[in-house]
Amino acid sequence: MTKIIITGSKGRMGRTLIACASGLPECQVVGQVDQGDDLRSVIEQGDVVVDFSSHSATLDIVALCAEHKKALVIGTTGHSDEGKSQIAEFKSRVPIVLSSNFSTGVNTLFWLTRKAAEILGPRFDLEIIEMHHRLKRDAPSGTAKTLAAILAQVRKQQLENVVRHGRAGIVGERTAQEIGVHSVRGGDIVGDHTVVFAGVGERLELTHKASSRETFANGALRAAQWVVKQPPGLYDMLDVLGLE
Ligand SMILES: NC(=O)c1ccc[n+]([C@@H]2O[C@H](COP(=O)([O-])OP(=O)(O)OC[C@H]3O[C@@H](n4cnc5c(N)ncnc54)[C@H](OP(=O)(O)O)[C@@H]3O)[C@@H](O)[C@H]2O)c1
Repeated sequence: MTKIIITGSKGRMGRTLIACASGLPECQVVGQVDQGDDLRSVIEQGDVVVDFSSHSATLDIVALCAEHKKALVIGTTGHSDEGKSQIAEFKSRVPIVLSSNFSTGVNTLFWLTRKAAEILGPRFDLEIIEMHHRLKRDAPSGTAKTLAAILAQVRKQQLENVVRHGRAGIVGERTAQEIGVHSVRGGDIVGDHTVVFAGVGERLELTHKASSRETFANGALRAAQWVVKQPPGLYDMLDVLGLE
């Protein structure tokens, strides 16, 4: 039985996690922490903290997990590069799964995106389009950033030098190096991501569409059960799924 504490428990993901965990005999939610609650008062009751709160909360949560030797699953997105580096500093003390997307389908998309970029090579132009509900606070999505990072890594580019967020005005011809990232917001879209490989005479598009938050919640609960058995380190969902 994996004992789980959820931070961000009253949010959209927090509520979905609680609902999904209630159907899993191998998981038990022993703590629910939201804005104004004190994680310190419940942390000893759990084996693992599952964080879907706010990027501004994550660092304190990681530090507390390290202090109490508790594993951690981080689903919260919107961290800066510096914020991610600060989280990574704790990897020698506790096992952490950090993933911008816990769905099995999206992690398969990550894997396929790497393969497609390797196979198609530099003659194909790369663009990413993501769509989310109108209440999402960060843009582009963490998943779109991960996809862009994978593409840049395959092309041996520094992402910050080649990423292009939207286009407006007389922007000139597209360069071969750039990786376009476009965020669409509206309604109740749970999360769509498309990677476009646009060549001359053909185009390949890889698309994933999430229709329910349960896919993220079930993935995060799977990660929680996996991470409690791991040595200290920084892992992602590809590690959990054995896709690396
Ligand atoms: N990795 C994935 O697969 C995945 C999937 C979906 C979403 N996400 C990410 O998960 C995060 C949450 O998404 P959501 O849609 O559930 O957002 P949400 O509905 O806004 O829920 C976040 C909850 O966390 C609470 N919170 C804020 N600061 C806190 C703190 N310091 N301590 C404890 N709780 C705090 C919020 O309270 P207030 O509203 O009062 O501030 C809110 O109840 C976002 O970063 C989102 O991008 C990741």
